[in-house]
Amino acid sequence: MTKQKILVANWKANPLTTDEAKIIGKGIIKKAKKFSSVQTIVCPTFIHIESVAKLQKTKTIEIGSQDTYMGSVGAHTGEVTTDMLSHAGVSHVILGHSERRAMGETEQDVSQKLRSVLDKKMKAILCIGELQRDKDARYLIFIHDQLVHSLGDITKKDLSSIIIAYEPVWAIGRTEAEAMKGADMYEMVIFIQRIINDAFGKEAVKKVKILYGGSVTADNAEEILRDGHVDGFLVGRQSLYPENFGEIMAIMNDEK
Ligand code: PGA
Repeated sequence: MTKQKILVANWKANPLTTDEAKIIGKGIIKKAKKFSSVQTIVCPTFIHIESVAKLQKTKTIEIGSQDTYMGSVGAHTGEVTTDMLSHAGVSHVILGHSERRAMGETEQDVSQKLRSVLDKKMKAILCIGELQRDKDARYLIFIHDQLVHSLGDITKKDLSSIIIAYEPVWAIGRTEAEAMKGADMYEMVIFIQRIINDAFGKEAVKKVKILYGGSVTADNAEEILRDGHVDGFLVGRQSLYPENFGEIMAIMNDEK
């Protein structure tokens, strides 16, 4: 039996209107119906979550959010809480995306948000990745620390609810040729698995899915999937185009 692959659509702060969000959402649902061996999670911006969630009567895609607030409902002006998201049908939450970390989100914030997501029985898509690479491989220490700190007080039991998205910041928002190569991603998969192994033991490694993100397109997806041995992708720009996104789904569906 083949393992189910995971494909996450990170719409970021797009699109402008609810009508546009519905058109993109409908397009993705139509594609997802054809590729049932791919678990597709669409993460619209907060304002579009409910309209996209309501597009489907039976569950073809899952709905994620791009962030959360760890407190409960109450006096937190401007925030959207984890319990609100859960109530709105959100099953997954992207945490620690580099664009949020660049706005000042700390590892402590990520770790608290992670706890709140797991406490609500939702799944977390935890983003990690270095800003740039250096010849002394100090970026590996950076990734190690980022992962260990973000995981904070996580227990072995929690791990099956955590998906790790490795997204090197230097590969995000670039051309497909500038995305990471599959063989290089495989090194990162092994590195991340070693960190999990050291922290939680051998059995734990099997529980954690590892995704790649950063300029994934239908042209580089096959190579990264095959040579990178990843469990799937976190896709930004291409997830706003159902045709292109559907092509990535088709590639993942075929990959054994
Ligand atoms: P990209 O974004 O696919 O547009 O590079 C990926 C991400 O930031 O999650």
